[in-house]
Amino acid sequence: MTAAAGALPEEFASALVLARDRLDVLGHRVLWYPDIGSTNDVAGALADQGGDEGLLVIADRQTAGRGRLGRSWASPPGAGIYASVILRPDAPVAMLLTIAAGVAVSEGIAAAAGLTVHVKWPNDVHVGGRKLAGILAEGAVGHVILGIGINVRPAVYPADLAARVTSIEAELGRPVDRGLVLAECLAALASRYRDLRNGDRRGVVDAWRQRAAPMLGRRVEWESAGTRHTGRAENIDEDGALIVTVGSGSLRIRSGEVRWL
Ligand code: BTN
Repeated sequence: MTAAAGALPEEFASALVLARDRLDVLGHRVLWYPDIGSTNDVAGALADQGGDEGLLVIADRQTAGRGRLGRSWASPPGAGIYASVILRPDAPVAMLLTIAAGVAVSEGIAAAAGLTVHVKWPNDVHVGGRKLAGILAEGAVGHVILGIGINVRPAVYPADLAARVTSIEAELGRPVDRGLVLAECLAALASRYRDLRNGDRRGVVDAWRQRAAPMLGRRVEWESAGTRHTGRAENIDEDGALIVTVGSGSLRIRSGEVRWL
């Protein structure tokens, strides 16, 4: 059973109101939970029941936060942004949505906090080699749930994670407004989503390449059918696949995990 939604805290409410004109339908309705399993699960259940595009679910803490590839997403209370939005894109838009979301979160963090971050394929957001934010896009018939996790404040993480993650405040050494970060990320997402619906895939891909520049041209490894492969990450194509050169040839990686060496 899902706990009842509560009143949206002022830090989020005021920032979303101020950004209202730049959000299109995103966040026209917001459900806030102090404590929830996963915002993606709540948003997914609402989408299955006909929930409108743009409906936003936010939590202060997740007890079963999920990451990509079956991993968990540590979601300590008050430390991050844990938000999921219902989108109902057409198929061609859906293909690049996960790429667009990584760009938008990077743009939102820069706009709200003045911190320059980079993206790692497909949409990990990181700074100085440490992960700062991640996106989990889960598709079903007729909708995509876009789950966004952003580490805003330093927190106690499991030991295996602590050395690999950072937060906006840890990077800047000053407090940051969580509401403003969320509002700017949503405004950037609304803008990039509009680009995709207008057929501007190139703008999204070019913006991703700029944000990913430090990672491109570097060696990567991945597994396929139980075998380890290495190559050089060169680019993404207009479907969001990673182009990797191996010897004199190249191949496209469409999903899964790639490790930077
Ligand atoms: C990743 O592995 O990088 C993706 C992490 C996505 C985490 C967010 S937090 C809000 C939403 N709810 C979840 O359970 N996961 C996503």
